Amino acid sequence: MAEQLLSTAVHDTVPGRYVRPESQRPRLAEVVAGARIPVVDLACPDSAAVVSAIGAACRSHGFFQVRDTPPPVHARTREVIYRPAIATDKACMLRLMLQILNHGIDEGLMAAVMAVARDFFRLPAEEKAKLYSDDPARKMRLSTSFNVRKETVHNWRDYLRLHCHPLDQFVPDWPSNPPDFKEIMSAYCKEVRELGLRLYAAISESLGLEAGCIGTTLGEQEQHMAVNFYPQCPAPELTYGLPAHTDPNALTILLMDQDVAGLQVLNGGKWVAVNPQAGALVINIGDQLQALSNGEYRSVWHRAVVNSDRERMSVASFLCPCNDVVLGPARMLVTEETPAVYRNYTYDEYYKKFWSRNLDQEHCLELFRT
Ligand code: OGA
Ligand code: NI
Repeated sequence: MAEQLLSTAVHDTVPGRYVRPESQRPRLAEVVAGARIPVVDLACPDSAAVVSAIGAACRSHGFFQVRDTPPPVHARTREVIYRPAIATDKACMLRLMLQILNHGIDEGLMAAVMAVARDFFRLPAEEKAKLYSDDPARKMRLSTSFNVRKETVHNWRDYLRLHCHPLDQFVPDWPSNPPDFKEIMSAYCKEVRELGLRLYAAISESLGLEAGCIGTTLGEQEQHMAVNFYPQCPAPELTYGLPAHTDPNALTILLMDQDVAGLQVLNGGKWVAVNPQAGALVINIGDQLQALSNGEYRSVWHRAVVNSDRERMSVASFLCPCNDVVLGPARMLVTEETPAVYRNYTYDEYYKKFWSRNLDQEHCLELFRT
């Protein structure tokens, strides 16, 4: 029911249905803060260096960041800006993410996306109620928590879920309020797709595959978006915005508030806070690239916690294989020494399994082992 939306109510206390049992709480005092982030420049002329840096991040933790900065002076002179931070700076840096400079998405557009998303969640309750659904099969829905029909404890999040490719098929059903929502979001979706496909090429090469391998294997991909709104929460210690999960798709590109933290990544058994950088996009590997890489790259556990003083927003773009594509380890990566870790399956089968479960159960890919 639309009354369950958090963004239409003000809560002075956390209702019992959001409170996690003691053993499952986020234990915020134990979270590691201040992780440093390696940088890779997508415009770097040394493409082999870009590929190996991306490969290193995917192998170690499956998370990296890309950032679009105004081209520094040395970029104009085409001097290499790639800093091999990943190799040289191990002592003080957690190798869980990669920042990529010059990801090509305009910062003004990124700011417009965040602004229009915020305006959307500020719409009056009756306007939002028209879009509400808790049916995960709906291609466009405003919902809350994760899967309210299945879960026993809810999450401190509202979200708008959109299908984004092909745009002309889905945009007509998107919210027409705020009036510029469709235009801004579709411009962003196009840019994100282009970036995602470029990253596929680099990730393919970093696995020793042909540049086009991942793109071809996954087929004419779908693209989904979750616009996440995490309201202020009176007791962030008791609940989650999103509990620990891995993403079921292939690649996720996350845009988020830059002055409110909330995303955390599991690294060596510890939760590490991801500090958003100005102009940055955070990239993570989803379950399908873990399967395709035959387990070499990891779809990492991550979660979103909430804040008592600030609301937080994020816009997650998910590239996903077509439903009928057969997935599993890339043939070239299956050898006598490295036998297939996962069986073949269709994305349809995987996705249904994912949504039939709770978010914080075991890694969904475990159910697809050979
Ligand atoms: C997601 C996700 C993290 C965030 O939407 O899958 O992990 O910071 N979001 O909102
Ligand atoms: Ni996620």
